[in-house]
Amino acid sequence: MKLYILNGPNLNLLGVREPEQYGSRSYADLLEMIRAHCAARGVEAVCRQTNHEGTLVDWIQEAYAERADGIVINPGAYTHTSVALLDAVKATRLPTVEVHISRVEAREAFRQVSYIRAACVKTITGHGLQGYLEAIDFLLDGGGEAPR
Ligand code: DQA
Repeated sequence: MKLYILNGPNLNLLGVREPEQYGSRSYADLLEMIRAHCAARGVEAVCRQTNHEGTLVDWIQEAYAERADGIVINPGAYTHTSVALLDAVKATRLPTVEVHISRVEAREAFRQVSYIRAACVKTITGHGLQGYLEAIDFLLDGGGEAPR
C-alpha cells in the first residue's frame, strides 16, 4: 500500500511556531515518526510539505495518478479557505483523512470552518503529532473503505 502524507503552510515550522498549540517537536521529528510507523506497518509513505495551495492540489492529483491508496492531509490554514482542496479530494475520490495537531474546535471562530472536511472519510483534531499515525492506521485498517 502507498499513502500520501501532505502538510500545508507553516507546518515546516513545527517546534518553532506557537509551541503551546503545536508542541515542541519539529517537522523532521514528525517525518521520523511517520517513517518508523509506516515501516513497522509495511506501507510506503510519500511525505510532502508546501506553503502553496496549488502545490497541494497538484500533489492530491499526483496521489490519484500514482494510484495511492489514501491521503492524510493537514492543510493548515487552507483548511479554512480552500474550495480548491475540497474539489481536488472530491475529484480523485481517494480516501482522505483530515488531521489537525491542535484542537481547532476549541480555537477561533474562523477555524471552525473546514471546506475539505466534506470530502474526508475522517477528521482527527487535537491529538498532536500522534494524530497522523492514527490517520494512517485508520486508512490501513479499512476505514478508507467507508462509504463516501
Ligand atoms: C492546524 C490548525 C489550523 O487552523 C492552522 O492554520 C494550522 C495548523 C493544526 O494542525 O492544528 O496551520 O491545521
